[in-house]
Amino acid sequence: SITDNFTRCLNNHTNPSFPISEQLYTPDNSSYPSVLQAYIRNLRFNETTTHKPILIITATHASHIQAAIVCARKHGLLMKTRSGGHDYEGLSYTSYTNQPFVIVDMFNLRSIHISMEHETAWVQSGATLGELYYQIAEKSNTHAFPSGVCPTIGVGGHFSGGGYGNMIRKYGLSIDNIVDAELIDANGKLLNRKSMGEDLFWAITGGGGVSFGVVLSYKIKLVRVPPVVTVFNIKRVENLSYIAHRWLQVADKLDDKIFLRMTFRVVNNGEKTIQAGFPSLYLGNSTNLVTLLKKDFPELGLEKSECIEMSWIESVLFYAGSFPIGTPITALLNRKPQSLNPFKIKSDYVKTLISQKDFELIFEKMKELENQQLYFNPYGGRMSEISEFSKPFPHRSGNIAKVQYLVNWEELGVEAEIRYLNFTRVMYDYMTPFVSKNPREAFLNYRDLDIGVNSHGKNACAEGMVYGHKYFRKSNYNRLTMVKSRVDPENFFRNEQSIPPCSSND
Ligand code: FDA
Repeated sequence: SITDNFTRCLNNHTNPSFPISEQLYTPDNSSYPSVLQAYIRNLRFNETTTHKPILIITATHASHIQAAIVCARKHGLLMKTRSGGHDYEGLSYTSYTNQPFVIVDMFNLRSIHISMEHETAWVQSGATLGELYYQIAEKSNTHAFPSGVCPTIGVGGHFSGGGYGNMIRKYGLSIDNIVDAELIDANGKLLNRKSMGEDLFWAITGGGGVSFGVVLSYKIKLVRVPPVVTVFNIKRVENLSYIAHRWLQVADKLDDKIFLRMTFRVVNNGEKTIQAGFPSLYLGNSTNLVTLLKKDFPELGLEKSECIEMSWIESVLFYAGSFPIGTPITALLNRKPQSLNPFKIKSDYVKTLISQKDFELIFEKMKELENQQLYFNPYGGRMSEISEFSKPFPHRSGNIAKVQYLVNWEELGVEAEIRYLNFTRVMYDYMTPFVSKNPREAFLNYRDLDIGVNSHGKNACAEGMVYGHKYFRKSNYNRLTMVKSRVDPENFFRNEQSIPPCSSND
């Protein structure tokens, strides 16, 4: 069978000092379901109907990945790479085509080496953000790294797609703080920044690793934080349309040490109402924070009693949302999320103000639908200083905020899925007048197959532009296709939204 031939090839292509045979899981292995499910983070893709791999390779050595690439190419198999499994559309562990595929699972490759002397760290792709944050805090209480707020996210997918967290206004995205990388290319060759060249390094810091190879590790530059930071997560239910309108006027202009997120959800106590939340981080003490917000955003009405001072690492747990204050920071090492359910997420960028009246209409629309949540994430600060061409991620100056549409539900099965997907698409359509246009931009890390899919046939270049221009804008997208043509002209590394190889004539 194809699996037998592939397995034989893997054994032939690996060094006997690093045997691969015990790292292979086929569907007839009793551990296969648990290995596959261990990093499924969206239960929409844990159904009997979900397309599953013919083999999972839980790599423990770079040579396993090299063998997987060489053998998958030889046997015409599609290969998926999974680090933390948080892809919103499950693209690291399922496929929407019928082609047989294998997964290279990176969770064993999770070492983290920190040099406090150089304020840098080498982090393997299979590490989680929680592990990275924990290791940094073990060495220093005044260093940190600007990345996502969910500790179970994997470094491989997160860094290669951008990496957005609550220090972006001070330090930018994760990719703005990456200084080197190790990548295994389509020929199975292990490259670093110097040997891969600046174009390919640029591509795998924001263009998604998946189109270009398997990222083995990233070298990051740590950032400095004060020993005491301040957090709060206040809720408001009154005057929301006015507060929301004011938030858009100020959130991207506040002191860059303030990250003030604004979230809305529907609460149903017999009557549906909107509740706003403001989960926030300030890189400084509460006295300064309250002074700044009383001056620049008095409508929020923040009181000092609502603020909590703590170390940066404690703020990571606080911001993750579901850990009570006082939870030991070893909780960051837990690889299992606290809850799992089916969900759908979409994204947008806001570049102009939304009036108070329009916010009222948006809230009414949310109430008509079910389970809608909107998160407004402020930009500005460091994000406006970095050129839109510096990395494939183009959403820099000119953006007030990124909107995240989130809907999650409890019921399993296709019927519930169709219903909730429809709700969130209605909400997204409703927001059209208030968000970026031509193209309507989106954030790669918030993968959304609604904005375009590639079948990688003869129209691959035209299909790629549909989602590519939204994630990267035209110029960055064109550069990504050029890099792709050079490093993977046969398009071995691909998924439903990867970069196709295109020439300037396509
Ligand atoms: P996963 O393993 O699913 O990989 C994602 C994609 O990258 C896939 O296409 C995969 O094939 C590819 N890939 C993975 N490892 C690779 C490697 N080593 N080399 C090449 N390609 C590789 N985002 C954000 O910016 N800020 C945030 O705060 C959050 N919060 C958040 C919370 C929760 C609960 C979820 C589910 C997701 C987020 N995200 C997020 C989104 C997250 O950043 C995004 O899904 C990342 O791609 C996840 O990376 P993983 O490695 O976990 O995913």
